[in-house]
Amino acid sequence: MRTPLIAGNWKMNGSLALVEDFGRALAEARLPRGVEVALMVPAPYLAAAVSTLAASEVAVGGQTLNDQPSGAFTGEVSGAMLVDVGARFVLVGHSERRTLFGEDDAAVLARVRAALGVGLIPVLCLGESLEEREAGRTEAVVLGQLAAVFDALSPDERSRLVIAYEPVWAIGTGRTATPEQAQAVHAAIRTRLADYAPALAEGLRVLYGGSMKAANAGELLAQPDIDGGLVGGASLKVDEFLAICQSAG
Ligand code: PGA
Repeated sequence: MRTPLIAGNWKMNGSLALVEDFGRALAEARLPRGVEVALMVPAPYLAAAVSTLAASEVAVGGQTLNDQPSGAFTGEVSGAMLVDVGARFVLVGHSERRTLFGEDDAAVLARVRAALGVGLIPVLCLGESLEEREAGRTEAVVLGQLAAVFDALSPDERSRLVIAYEPVWAIGTGRTATPEQAQAVHAAIRTRLADYAPALAEGLRVLYGGSMKAANAGELLAQPDIDGGLVGGASLKVDEFLAICQSAG
């Protein structure tokens, strides 16, 4: 049995006040048993989120990391720094990092390795653009992004990742993949994971992301190969985010 994971991705949004609101609300909320919850907040808020959320068992994660351990990289954040402030997860290869900040498959792999090296759980994001979907290339693109990382890792390293399938055309657009569209890609990812090892396919969590909200989370999470959500816009409203967590229970 895979433990569902609902991860909020605040992107470059939020404030210290919002961190505190979430801390209060999540400490009081009855999160469903057997569901893991995490919040990926902007780097300046990580330490506050870790201490504010300590009472609620909600984990905290970074949104990116540099692949180098330290050095003259102005503005960057290392995996060791994320660990130092109490983060457990880190997003790697989010489509905004790939398209806006030029992170290619090699850069994504280097960051996954850096995260694993310091004991963070990388949430590896995969997804096709609208153009790629319309050209019938969805599986080729997504499985290619997967292979670019997984082919280079050891069996033990592979077992320590979480995958997030996020069709780029559904991110922040209000246009969600239908449960059937999402399930088809999730199943293809799982079949590909089984080529590495059946136990890997059985154990690894594959989250869906792209305009997930309280109103559509239930039907997405009911799909057999969808093991949770990576939630952007809807993770900035505490009631909406809590409702999504409830539908994973
Ligand atoms: P969205 O973002 O839920 O706002 O579409 C998801 C993501 O980019 O992780």
